[in-house]
Amino acid sequence: MANWTLIGLLALCHTCLVAGYTKFPAGFTFGIATAAHQIEGAWNVSGKSENVWDRLSHTRPELIADGTNGDIACDSYHRYQEDVDELAYIGVDFYRFSLSWARILPTGRVDHVNPDGIRYYNDLLNALAEKNIEPLVTLFHWDLPQTLQDLGGWANPKMIDYFRDYSDLCFREFGDKIKSWITFNEPYEICEDAYGDIKKAPAIDSHGVGNYLCSDNLLKAHAEAYHLYNETYRPVQNGRIMISINSIWYEPADPNNAELVALAEVANQFKFGWFAHPIFTAEGGYPTAMVENVALQSAAEGLPKSRLEQFDDYWIQRIKGTSDFLGINHYTTFLITGAGVDPTAKDPSWLKDIGAVQTMEVGGDSASEWLRVVPTGFANLLRWCKSSYNDPPIYITENGFSDLPGTLEDYGRISYFNEYLSEILNVIYDDGVKVLGYTAWTLMDNFEWRAGFSERFGFYYVDITDPARPRTPKLSVEYFKQLIANRELPQDEIFKDPAKIRDEL
Ligand code: NOJ
Repeated sequence: MANWTLIGLLALCHTCLVAGYTKFPAGFTFGIATAAHQIEGAWNVSGKSENVWDRLSHTRPELIADGTNGDIACDSYHRYQEDVDELAYIGVDFYRFSLSWARILPTGRVDHVNPDGIRYYNDLLNALAEKNIEPLVTLFHWDLPQTLQDLGGWANPKMIDYFRDYSDLCFREFGDKIKSWITFNEPYEICEDAYGDIKKAPAIDSHGVGNYLCSDNLLKAHAEAYHLYNETYRPVQNGRIMISINSIWYEPADPNNAELVALAEVANQFKFGWFAHPIFTAEGGYPTAMVENVALQSAAEGLPKSRLEQFDDYWIQRIKGTSDFLGINHYTTFLITGAGVDPTAKDPSWLKDIGAVQTMEVGGDSASEWLRVVPTGFANLLRWCKSSYNDPPIYITENGFSDLPGTLEDYGRISYFNEYLSEILNVIYDDGVKVLGYTAWTLMDNFEWRAGFSERFGFYYVDITDPARPRTPKLSVEYFKQLIANRELPQDEIFKDPAKIRDEL
């Protein structure tokens, strides 16, 4: 009897949750994101040079789950008008896409500008303008020209100048049409996964060393691009510029265990704080927990200096405050289960430096091992950002769900969006978190980096065996279209109740 009462109460409670806030505040905007290397293809066409992902997928195909590459991808280089038509059909306010550095500057430096690269992005921008879709443009979404990687890539301090010069060119060439810029997409993935591991190109695997060299250079490069825009371009172009930081939100496995609570905080400082603390806090610089932990580990390794050096005063001031908004890419939550060295940690490494053991055993599944469905983790992350970073205005610059190729009735994706969006409404209305816009990942199934095409995040299914790369809408297209048309979580029975959708899965 007691059990039934409990189940009844839980059901009631669940209904309350589902029937909670549904309407988005006035002015809230919706968009969809992609990235150049994941969709464009045309990898060696019209003057584009090789980037680090071309090099990795061509020379080490065994590192890509299905042995594929981005040579053709969704062929958006030739089919961008189809992309724009799909975006217009869904009714988005903005389209987030990235510029291919190697397409615009084949040497990586400004000694030679590729006119075809400039033409391609102007064509895309004009097509968007015709449909009244605002561009939100990322300068760097992981596809570094191989020429610059040959000089050390993000481990080389000279990258600060190269990125500034590239940004300068982009602001000058496209700034009349682009009013919203993102400098870097997911700096954690760039530094930790690509220089501290082999999870991303260029797969340098200098764990515990290269990752921290990268963050030094990347944060300085970001700050230089921001100041350049702020001082030279903003006064005439009137735009805004930010960085998109990714999070795996860490929760303590037992919220009543003070040690785990403290360790989860350290883990969040290592993950999100690594790039957010220098930019969004009043004191600036890397988070104290990070500086202290890496110093202790380095000393234990017998090193004369820490592997992570705090910025000097000049750079602390120069980096602080260099983002008009906090851009957040969020997908998932992991649990912290204890103190010590995570069994998967290399020595030395960022993961070992944290000093906590983590697990992904939480929430529902997706097609990606790392992506667990934990909507409440999103709300906790957003509340934490509000309190840790002085209540910043926030754009969600990515959020999305993967399933297997060919899933056209993508209830898992709809349910994910519905539950995560519902948590956004909760934190806006209950906690006053200033979330101003939401970007879904992604327009169409595309090259999911080392997962190749084996995991699909798109609103449109893309048949990559067909040279015409036909795009077929999934059910989530109608969900998102209805959401944007009404600025409200869709009320159709088929979309409304995540629990019901789960039962149908
Ligand atoms: C974040 C990255 O920015 C994007 O490129 C990637 O495809 C999605 N996450 C999904 O993994």
